[in-house]
Amino acid sequence: MSGWIFLSGMMGSGKSTVGRLLAEWNGTALIDLDVRIAARANKSIPRIFADEGEAVFRRLEAEEAGRVIAHDKPTVVALGGGTVMNADTRRLLLEAGVLVTLDAPAGELAARLEGKGDRPLLMRGEAASILEGLLAERAEAYAECHGRVETAGRSVGEIAEEVAAIARANPIVVPLGKRTYRVDVAAGARARLPEHVSGAVLLVTDTNVDRAWGTEIATLLGDPFTAVLVPGEEHKTIRSVETIWDVALSAGLDRRATLVALGGGVVGDLAGFAASTLLRGVRCVQVPTSLLAMVDASVGGKTGFDRSQGKNLIGTFHQPTHVICDIDVLSTLPDAELRSGLAEVVKSAWLDGEGAVASLERDAEALLARDRSALERAVRASVRLKARIVASDERESGARMTLNLGHTLGHAIEAARGYSGIRHGEAVAVGMMKAFAVARGLGGRDADVNGARMKVLLERLGLPIDAAIDERTLAFVGADKKRASGKITFVVPGAPGHTELVPVGLEQIREFVIGGPRPLE
Ligand SMILES: NC(=O)c1ccc[n+]([C@@H]2O[C@H](COP(=O)([O-])OP(=O)(O)OC[C@H]3O[C@@H](n4cnc5c(N)ncnc54)[C@H](O)[C@@H]3O)[C@@H](O)[C@H]2O)c1
Repeated sequence: MSGWIFLSGMMGSGKSTVGRLLAEWNGTALIDLDVRIAARANKSIPRIFADEGEAVFRRLEAEEAGRVIAHDKPTVVALGGGTVMNADTRRLLLEAGVLVTLDAPAGELAARLEGKGDRPLLMRGEAASILEGLLAERAEAYAECHGRVETAGRSVGEIAEEVAAIARANPIVVPLGKRTYRVDVAAGARARLPEHVSGAVLLVTDTNVDRAWGTEIATLLGDPFTAVLVPGEEHKTIRSVETIWDVALSAGLDRRATLVALGGGVVGDLAGFAASTLLRGVRCVQVPTSLLAMVDASVGGKTGFDRSQGKNLIGTFHQPTHVICDIDVLSTLPDAELRSGLAEVVKSAWLDGEGAVASLERDAEALLARDRSALERAVRASVRLKARIVASDERESGARMTLNLGHTLGHAIEAARGYSGIRHGEAVAVGMMKAFAVARGLGGRDADVNGARMKVLLERLGLPIDAAIDERTLAFVGADKKRASGKITFVVPGAPGHTELVPVGLEQIREFVIGGPRPLE
């Protein structure tokens, strides 16, 4: 454990006691945030509450948390019970290290706190019912963490060990209140899949993935129901959804069931859609097996399928309850599919900024050679970015639209070819280069320099950088979901980290990517 561990939870949950033991294992000293605040204010916490009120205390708490992260060496921090109620502080903690919530029922907490007169919030009435109320009030904030550990009836050592295990796994969190979920990124992570399912399990996969991993995963899950789909984008249809629905309904699944999506983005989108509609919604755990699904499709809750009129035109938002990106399963992924996934890695890095693009440029050959640490780095960086964007704009009304970089034309290219003959990532690579053509047409600063840099990177990764765009393809651009009042919300790339959303007319797109006005009929 080398980074920050932040312990959150209600007063009496054991943050300081567990924290001291963890810090001792770490060879560091525990930081108790309340102690720091009291020292800086030069008065006790009850005194701050009495003199200045809770609002001032919360402000001091947020400031102190920021100061600790900025100036101290990483160690274990026991937070105040209400520290994570400040959304900005919570996001800061989630980004800086591993945030773990220690849980206990209100009655148990009240018993632990009996006779301790130093808790201002408990002086207002009967302890158990106040705690009950606070737990309800803080439920969303306490849920946004890397892991929760039950403390009732357990030794300090057991609790500390579980916190340490969460810190070692170093998961990424998609913070969405009570729907928060973790993305585990590690070689061998699939072994822990059974901990994340409940009720009857339906394993959804395709024949390719089934051949490579089906038996092992089915054994891990203890003989689940299975729906094995025909692979390929051209089968991302309502027919495949029906196959999943029918297996689920024939098996008599109820609303406590879990669907496990084991496969690439096609399986993930189809299983996610089926999970969102079956019995008005059941749990879905994503176990992506392609690089593309790890870095993009499995995270964020977009589900759906294609129609002849366009790609992903029918769909829902349905967040998974857990995501497992096991780098080992990429060992059976064909080279062309690996490269296709790298297109989305390039996209994420470009949205992220200069550091991410430079790191990818350094790793390009290692990624093609399937170096496991390079792959883990790429998956982690992309998932972290996506988690951040999804947390700020779950329903894609703003920031999340930037994730469509290269997709407006990419989707049109796929649809125009009947969803065969070009992989999603390949179409996105071409789409990104065409997006630079649009940037250039709109007079974007340094569009040529930035476009040339991306072109070199895509070529090094073995990705296509051009494809013919004809009128038929453009017609699919017009059918895209991202249109509003006749204009397409186009993701216009610039330098890394500088991407803009610009309403662009179809005529302009035609002019910039094909050249010239619409031909006479
Ligand atoms: N929901 C989202 O937010 C989102 C984001 C990006 C892309 N997508 C969707 O993802 C899809 C593309 O995903 P994809 O590129 O993974 O395509 P895919 O699911 O078709 O998988 C590509 C191929 O690789 C095979 N495969 C996957 N993992 C394997 C493994 N470990 N070993 C052997 N073979 C394996 C599959 O059987 C398939 O033939 C598109 O439909 C796209 O729209 C969704």
